[in-house]
Amino acid sequence: MGVATRIFRYFDRRYRLREPVEYQLNKRIPAHLNWTNCFGGITFVCFSVQALTGILLAFYYKPSMPEAYTSVLRIMEEVPFGAFVRGLHAWTANVMIFMATLHLLKVFFISAYRPPREFTWVSGIALFFVTVFFGFSGYLLPMNQLAYWATTVGTQIAGAFPLVGSYAQLFLLGGGKISGETLTRFYAIHVLVLPATIILLLAAHFSMIRRQGISEPL
Ligand code: HEM
Repeated sequence: MGVATRIFRYFDRRYRLREPVEYQLNKRIPAHLNWTNCFGGITFVCFSVQALTGILLAFYYKPSMPEAYTSVLRIMEEVPFGAFVRGLHAWTANVMIFMATLHLLKVFFISAYRPPREFTWVSGIALFFVTVFFGFSGYLLPMNQLAYWATTVGTQIAGAFPLVGSYAQLFLLGGGKISGETLTRFYAIHVLVLPATIILLLAAHFSMIRRQGISEPL
């Protein structure tokens, strides 16, 4: 008997794992599903990569005005695999937005937003905004020229919204212009607020999908 089988038996005897594992492995997949149904799952894989690489980056990144840029330089030049992990985090951020967009378009064109899946769609829209906001808030963190000007433009766009715009801009910047306050806020949003929000939204999204199953073709 192989080591893996022995380990499995050890835990199976204590926790009766065979039943749930067999249920998952033998579950029937509806015949109408095709590769486009993987878009949501691929978006989730991207999120998992982001969580893992983000934690690794947080071990070295310093969220303060004098140290942010130099800590990123250190990650790129001195930390073992630092450039790889940072590159993976930055590229997967783009792939995640791209895959979430494909997933959104797919579920829109098959009309999967119709009853009874209205709230799966609504939670999806919220997930989409959170995903984009992850990208926007992460962009400032290296505190280089690109980050500075992208955030200047982004917060000005927020400021142009009717009624709430100026409040949103003030809230994001933590003052009249980009400063250490802005960096602290963006860091808190990027590593605390958005991860907590996305986990809650994903739990809602997945539990509704589990409950209702994937939609049938019209
Ligand atoms: C972080 C972002 C997201 C993740 C990880 C995610 C994940 C998933 C997964 C794994 C499924 C089941 C498989 C599938 O049909 O693709 C699914 C289904 C669904 N998602 Fe998402 N999703 C995300 C964003 C969105 C967005 C932006 C929308 C649209 C506004 C959306 C709306 C839906 C709907 C309506 C379904 C049900 C599809 C059906 O029953 O045919 N999701 N999602």
